[in-house]
Amino acid sequence: ERRLSVDTAVPVDSFSCVVMHYFQYSNGTLFCEGVPVPTVADEVGTPLYLYSQNTFLRHYRRLDRALSGTKHIICFALKANPNIAICRVLASDGAGAEVVSGGELDRALRAGVPGERIVFNGNGKTEGELRYALDSDILMFCVDSEQELDLLDAVAKRAGRNAPIAVRVNPDIPVETHPYLATSLRESKFGVATDRAIACYEFAARADNLDVVGIHAHIGSQLVDLTPFEESVSRLAESVRELKKRHIDIRYIDLGGGLGITYSDEEPPSYEEFADAVVSYARDVGCAIVLEPGRSIIGNAGILVTRVLYVKRGEAKTFVVVDAAMNDLIRPSLYGAYHDIVPVAESDHEDAKVRADVVGGICESGDFLARDRELPAVKIGDLLAVMSAGAYGAAMSSTYNSRPLVPEVLVSGDTFKVIRKRPSYEEMVSLELVDEIRD
Ligand code: LLP
Repeated sequence: ERRLSVDTAVPVDSFSCVVMHYFQYSNGTLFCEGVPVPTVADEVGTPLYLYSQNTFLRHYRRLDRALSGTKHIICFALKANPNIAICRVLASDGAGAEVVSGGELDRALRAGVPGERIVFNGNGKTEGELRYALDSDILMFCVDSEQELDLLDAVAKRAGRNAPIAVRVNPDIPVETHPYLATSLRESKFGVATDRAIACYEFAARADNLDVVGIHAHIGSQLVDLTPFEESVSRLAESVRELKKRHIDIRYIDLGGGLGITYSDEEPPSYEEFADAVVSYARDVGCAIVLEPGRSIIGNAGILVTRVLYVKRGEAKTFVVVDAAMNDLIRPSLYGAYHDIVPVAESDHEDAKVRADVVGGICESGDFLARDRELPAVKIGDLLAVMSAGAYGAAMSSTYNSRPLVPEVLVSGDTFKVIRKRPSYEEMVSLELVDEIRD
């Protein structure tokens, strides 16, 4: 049987491996927890996103437990997967939410996340979004610039309330990841440099309608080394000390998200190793720790299930044409990201291999899910699973080429539920006002 680096038989409590998910083969068929993937594909149609609830819950609980010795809040980063049902499952287990838009805030609230566990990030918050978050009594605004601080003070004044703030610091720490995912270099658009942050805090401390509560940094995403996290938290702690001298008290150190996952052979640190490396810095300065994990919670809890439409022998290459495409999962096209692709039903002649590009039906040569990938020989109608697609998969999908967004299905144990339907063509055009145009 094909190995998927899984350990499904192990109960949550004794789990110790880094790669954690509940997708495994049984008698040659891929299962998500207790549900055979072909059953869902037949009932819901392909392509579809399939999530394992017990996988992401386990991740959340494990992180929560790793931090149990320290006051902490885990705010799930909705940008990784904004599905309300998923957020609701996490919220009912105690998770907070990290949001970066009014839309994400709205989703978090609908999912039942209490305002006091919501942090609002981003470098382009609008006045309307600031007001919405103020009215929702959120934990804190992670403010990205002096101008945003000004605007928030003014919006809070008009609303007759105070806005709790953290300043997003750009600690200028080099990280090893795709350049689009590195956020703490001097050249990056995010946050303010440490010395400027001190000035921001002095402004905020004097402002009538701002309350200083935290300090924030998010240094990048898909990081598999602990050193930059440790450097980041130690600099934040240093700033907390500096601020204390100026009689400005910080309660929360928000370290952002960024912990990487295994897509192929990466070996990210475990949550326990991560916690061991960072918590003492926060504790030493009397702060609670806030984390904003996205990918490490949901990434390996989701797959994209797709069906082979054609196997085309081109002049220079073979193309496996599938019914999912770059609009459904853009990571390979946008970042050159690797996602494992495995057959849903193992074939009897595993040895027959084909080297191929796995491509979608979008009218662009940049539309691929994998290039030059060795796969078991596939034929028309076969189902394939694109692995580790739970984070930034559905979240980044679009309707390019007027393709409907793909449904999302949540498995828990032996049961599955559609948590986002596939829209009809009628629903897809429902916001367009065709009748307004008369010739
Ligand atoms: N907090 C902030 C302020 C962030 O900017 C991000 C991600 C997170 C938390 C969550 O980070 P995570 O734990 O998921 O690494 N679309 C890209 C990833 C972009 C990440 C952007 N910020 C991808 O598909 O790899």
